Amino acid sequence: MWTREKLSELIKSKLGDRLLVVVSNREPYVHVFDGDDVKYYVPPGGLVTALEPIMEASGGYWVAQASGEADNLVVDERNEIGCPPENPNFTLRRVFLSKEEITGFYYNFANGGMWPLCHVAFIRPRFEAADYQMYKAVQEKYADAIAEIVGDRPAFVFIQDYHFANLARILKEKVRNVVTAQFWHIPWPNSEVVRILPFKEELLDNLLYNDLLAFQVQYHVMNFLDTVNRYIESRVEYDVSRINRGGRTTLLRAFPISIDFEHVSRLSASAPIMNMRQELIKKYRLKDKIVAVGVDRIDYTKGIIERFRAVDRFLEKNPQYVGKFVYVQLGALSRMQIPAYRELNDSLNDMMVSINEKYQSLGWKPIIFARANHSKESVVAWNGIGNVSLVTSLHDGMNLVAKEFVASRNDLSGVLVLSEFTGAARELVDSVQINPYFIDGLADAIKTAIEMPLEEQQRRMTRMREAISQQNVYRWAAKILSEIFNFEFVEYDTEVVDT
Ligand code: G6P
Repeated sequence: MWTREKLSELIKSKLGDRLLVVVSNREPYVHVFDGDDVKYYVPPGGLVTALEPIMEASGGYWVAQASGEADNLVVDERNEIGCPPENPNFTLRRVFLSKEEITGFYYNFANGGMWPLCHVAFIRPRFEAADYQMYKAVQEKYADAIAEIVGDRPAFVFIQDYHFANLARILKEKVRNVVTAQFWHIPWPNSEVVRILPFKEELLDNLLYNDLLAFQVQYHVMNFLDTVNRYIESRVEYDVSRINRGGRTTLLRAFPISIDFEHVSRLSASAPIMNMRQELIKKYRLKDKIVAVGVDRIDYTKGIIERFRAVDRFLEKNPQYVGKFVYVQLGALSRMQIPAYRELNDSLNDMMVSINEKYQSLGWKPIIFARANHSKESVVAWNGIGNVSLVTSLHDGMNLVAKEFVASRNDLSGVLVLSEFTGAARELVDSVQINPYFIDGLADAIKTAIEMPLEEQQRRMTRMREAISQQNVYRWAAKILSEIFNFEFVEYDTEVVDT
């Protein structure tokens, strides 16, 4: 399989003297106060895991928004800091944004407009001219930072996600010698949905300044090709997945993002995590209970309302599980300035209270809702406790939680209930796949999952583990690099993970 070391060798041999610059909205290290001291943490989520090995191997730059209250205290005069802070091998360049910039760029345009548009989650996207101007102005700021870093050197700039739809163009107007690839982590909807985006012609045109534009699954690539074909003057070559416009060529590809399977698997088997598991079981009185776990950012695309309704329906239909089944929802809050997120959080609270009231008895409640920024360790610990993982997104580019659950199950037990509307569903075909809009079906799937014979659980889990250990995050990165630098991609056989 692909490993961190193999990826590192590949980068060193293929990148040559090109400088590597990664751009994302979220930064990989956040500095905060701890009393009078300053400490840092690594925010949870797939982005850092996926990109850090690339950064380490290349020793390049990572440009991202400053988000910690103590971020400004630790950077130099160029707003830079060596990372990882205790043993630096790449440079983090922090972009500081004003309150107004964050509101227009991040809350309003990226997360109030593009996010609901791309997820088609029945939350009406909001598009204001002033927000779009701010969205572009912030990207201009990023481009200035990158231009200062790059100068005249040849560079490869790897742009992340929907926060930067215009960046490739703005940047290429400032620096000559750059190659850019952009990875769109979220879905790309069909062309009819994109119709409502007022700035679509410019936004599509600007995205096509990338040399490579990659999505999670082929379906999103097809949607993008159709969208461009419909709205802007261009030559779309469907057979080779390429678009020509204004003398430039952009390759369109599907590269499903993944996790460091081996790392999660080993972490899950480690003594501290085993101990943490025992403590959690004790703290929440889960011994002898049938436990289902859900791990999400509190977001309306994740289908958490549907999950709560399904737990209710499951207990209604199967009273023999009252007192025996517990659903644990881990939830991280984000984007709370946006009304839809606040409303969702309130609704979930109300639902939890009323479902619990309906069924609870002395010492037992069906839903435990643990809202916090759970550490990676705590998520891995919880993933090993549950018999079942519920991933019920209404729409999701990939969903790495599903892959992490699989990687955490070294004993091969446990069942993944997975929405068919996630990118992960294409690879994890041995999950129990559901349509989260159909509550009865979801309730029945919970029953199927908790009653699945151990042998079948093991059969399915073995196959899912093989798939993810082979298609890990290092392979994802290597695939992108091989495409952009045009060398032959080498496949390595799966090796058994020994934990
Ligand atoms: C999704 C996006 C990421 C984003 C993450 C967390 O996975 O694709 O780009 O960082 O959500 O969202 P937040 O707004 O909290 O950074």
